[in-house]
Amino acid sequence: MSGFDTGWLALREPADKAARSKVLATELVTHLDGLAAPTIMDIGCGTGSTYRSLSSRFPATARWQLVDYDQRLLHEAERLIGGAMVSYHQKDLTNLASLELEGVNLVTASAFFDLCSGDFCEHLVERLASHKIGLYAALNYDGRISWSDPHERDGEIVSAFNRHQRSDKGFGAALGPQAAAHLDSSFASRGYRIAIADSTWRLDRSHSALQVAFLRGMISPVAEVSNLSRNTLEAWLDFRLAKLHDGGRLDVGHVDLLALPL
Ligand SMILES: C[S@@+](CC[C@H](N)C(=O)[O-])C[C@H]1O[C@@H](n2cnc3c(N)ncnc32)[C@H](O)[C@@H]1O
Repeated sequence: MSGFDTGWLALREPADKAARSKVLATELVTHLDGLAAPTIMDIGCGTGSTYRSLSSRFPATARWQLVDYDQRLLHEAERLIGGAMVSYHQKDLTNLASLELEGVNLVTASAFFDLCSGDFCEHLVERLASHKIGLYAALNYDGRISWSDPHERDGEIVSAFNRHQRSDKGFGAALGPQAAAHLDSSFASRGYRIAIADSTWRLDRSHSALQVAFLRGMISPVAEVSNLSRNTLEAWLDFRLAKLHDGGRLDVGHVDLLALPL
């Protein structure tokens, strides 16, 4: 089990969908043009958010392979999506050698690479390059968090949160905010064409539930890696929740990356 619950993934899905770069999604569709029945593998698929955001733009003949190590999330994906053109694969991606890439035309992943280590990304890029497969890596957290109403502790809290993002999430020390930059340089050295675009969450009053969950979710990681007291963190959270109640906005920086073989 990964610790990503279905409630959190459902809550973030509309914000993710709105934030995804339309330009990169269009390039992706063009890249697959001409393939009668492309095969797309989505890694770290969760409940299938990438599939839901892209599949309507691909030919109806496209086949999808959804991969995750969390059986609960795969079951939910299957319940939501069904079976006709989609298959579900429980795999621990730390064992990359077990990933069968033969016949795959494109690998996709959303909100995934910031959990991964540099070594994992290197190894994946090497395998993709050896099969000349492109990668669409969306919604990589990039370390930028800002609020419409500043608080004196914001800087300290965001930098502690970003330190925690670099801790081991199962793959070794995570890339966290460096994920997109790391993928960029790995692909560049293998002659891929790379495009990067902003996919920042811009959350307002209409995203209150997501803002609350995100704010509450910052507290434990920050407490784990900083000297800030629980009282200080609770006071900051109270301030943030009050501002949110008054219509406060929150931006969380993400970037999308598309790397296509030349
Ligand atoms: C932030 S969630 C994103 C899920 C989905 N892509 C989305 O955008 O909603 C990260 C996903 O990576 C999966 N994951 C994390 N470590 C994994 C591993 N070692 N092997 C396979 N999947 C993993 C989790 O189970 C989770 O579904």
